Amino acid sequence: MCKRKGALFDHSKTKFALTGAHVATPCQSCHIGNKYAGTVSTCEGCHTPDYQKTSTPNHAAAGFPKDCIVCHTTTQWKGAKFDHTAMTKFPLTGAHVQTQCSLCHVNGVYKGTPQTCDGCHLPDYQKRPPPTTPPPASPKTARSATTRHSGRAPSSTTRP
Ligand code: HEC
Ligand code: HEC
Ligand code: HEC
Ligand code: HEC
Ligand code: HEC
Repeated sequence: MCKRKGALFDHSKTKFALTGAHVATPCQSCHIGNKYAGTVSTCEGCHTPDYQKTSTPNHAAAGFPKDCIVCHTTTQWKGAKFDHTAMTKFPLTGAHVQTQCSLCHVNGVYKGTPQTCDGCHLPDYQKRPPPTTPPPASPKTARSATTRHSGRAPSSTTRP
């Protein structure tokens, strides 16, 4: 049934044109149990298992977006490209080139990522120990370290 229907059916009349590898994909691979209406049309809706299996590179560990089309086409998984400089307003330079996506795009959020240095590095600045930090191991120091990591200024009790 599907074959005959496929010969006559113009899939580009749906919101999901068949391109690349999808052209030769059997109808039933996407329309499981001959269900047509309401077929999921996002890449991740069908390819999340492929994403999870990746090792070179490990997509989950790198925090890649789940919108495969940002880097892939529908032709093949190999040969993907992501050029942050060309595709966004924030070129990756220096140490940022090797920085994991997910350290800047926390929780997989890409839109509205801060672009100013202090938007991301203010916590580093605040975490820096004051010059007079006493040696570690005293309960007092442990407490002040916690305070620093919470992003607040070190309490005045740690100052001489
Ligand atoms: C790679 C996956 C994929 C393949 C292969 C595929 N389809 Fe689809 N198809 C979809 C998606 C996704 C939609 C939903 C598009 C939308 O929301 O409008 C869809 C929608 C449809 C619809 C409209 C459903 C409705 O009621 O809105 C029909 C009919 C259909 N496909 C038939 C076929 C036939 C026949 C084949 C084989 C020649 C085929 N499809 C192959 C993914 C696929
Ligand atoms: C409705 C399900 C569905 C959707 C939506 C869908 N795909 Fe597919 N795709 C398939 C199936 C089924 C195959 C056949 C091979 C397979 O099982 O992985 C396939 C094959 C592929 C292949 C070839 C894989 C290989 O091993 O050669 C690529 C690349 C691909 N899809 C990319 C995408 C991208 C990018 C999107 C989003 C724009 C997308 N697909 C959306 C179901 C889907
Ligand atoms: C930020 C860019 C980016 C995004 C987004 C992305 N990929 Fe990739 N992907 C890559 C790169 C780069 C490669 C390596 C390509 C190569 O080796 O030629 C790759 C390779 C792969 C491979 C083959 C390597 C392996 O270890 O199996 C698969 C499968 C794959 N991606 C699936 C996906 C799927 C599924 C999605 C979406 C759910 C996705 N990718 C989203 C960049 C991306
Ligand atoms: C050093 C921090 C940093 C790293 C690392 C980084 N990005 Fe970004 N990214 C940004 C900033 C800043 C923007 C600009 C956001 C904007 O234009 O609103 C951005 C924008 C983006 C956008 C466009 C978002 C949108 O829709 O406007 C995508 C997609 C993206 N990055 C993906 C990635 C991927 C994939 C990686 C890893 C390969 C990565 N980024 C690594 C900081 C980073
Ligand atoms: C979207 C967040 C983001 C923005 C914006 C950003 N950075 Fe970064 N930067 C990071 C992350 C995440 C790292 C890697 C983790 C770390 O070392 O803190 C990093 C690393 C660095 C490093 C290396 C630090 C080290 O310890 O090795 C330097 C230097 C740096 N950034 C400078 C800057 C400067 C200068 C700007 C402004 C032009 C800037 N960054 C903007 C997130 C950002």
